Amino acid sequence: MRYKGIILAGGNGTRLHPMTIAVSKQLIPVYDKPMIFYPLSVLMDAGIRQVLIITKPEEAYLFQRLLGDGSNWGISIEYAEQPKPAGIAQGLFIAEEFLAGAPSVLILGDNIFYGSNFTQKVCKAMTENIGAFILPYKVRDPSQYGVLELDVSGRIQNIVEKPKKPPSNLAVPGLYILDETAPKKAKELVPSGRGELEITDLLNIYLAEKKLKYCVLDRGTAWLDTGTTESLLEASMFVQAIEKRQGHKIACLEEISLNKNFQLISSLHPCAFAEW
Ligand code: DAU
Repeated sequence: MRYKGIILAGGNGTRLHPMTIAVSKQLIPVYDKPMIFYPLSVLMDAGIRQVLIITKPEEAYLFQRLLGDGSNWGISIEYAEQPKPAGIAQGLFIAEEFLAGAPSVLILGDNIFYGSNFTQKVCKAMTENIGAFILPYKVRDPSQYGVLELDVSGRIQNIVEKPKKPPSNLAVPGLYILDETAPKKAKELVPSGRGELEITDLLNIYLAEKKLKYCVLDRGTAWLDTGTTESLLEASMFVQAIEKRQGHKIACLEEISLNKNFQLISSLHPCAFAEW
């Protein structure tokens, strides 16, 4: 069955106050476009044309105003609300009806990826997935992320959320390739010490079932943080530098839609659209 996409765009963005008091974090600009364009472009690049965006109830209309139903780009965008930011894994059972038994690519609305072979890696992971597939990334300080604990032969032993003493430098970015059992598994989770349904706990369920695979993103890929004012500014400068130097845009939804023939496919086969 074809993968569907979920973008989590709720949360309080408290580390970016006062910018995010009146405006959702995922709508503020990263250089020349709203942040959510970046994760949406990742899904479109991976060939996904049915996307659910999960937002805070009071901000849903802002996302709808920006992105509409997706028909501008030949994709379908639906919306769902998360009453409170009770954890990333909660997004999966909010999305259960939308998924209707399909596997999913869940991406966090504040994660930015860029790299020449990145899309190939995502597509390969979607093909090879037997449960859950993650794309860890080496960072200098992994303590603010989910972190892999590996044995000597590189097998995952555990995934730890925001460890004080990280067991490795391999952080888990907010991009999760999941089979159709994810919503059911997410419902089994109990809130962590910080009161959230943790995505790392969900991944550990797949690990216990021996259904968790990974492929490390190499240094040719950039995974950018947007969590603090400093990292947000750095992300904007990174996008500016690449776009200015190379003369092409990162996360240009029109370009992706055109390259993938999304418009053409939906206008030629309106009835077949749901199959995409
Ligand atoms: O960025 C990758 C990291 O994202 C992972 O390595 C961690 O394992 C994962 O827990 C997460 O950590 P963060 O501390 O960055 O999560 P944060 O609470 O900042 O939320 C990330 C995004 O997800 C943000 O755009 C808001 C959205 N979100 C978050 C929660 C908890 C929601 O939409 N709903 C939620 O309930």
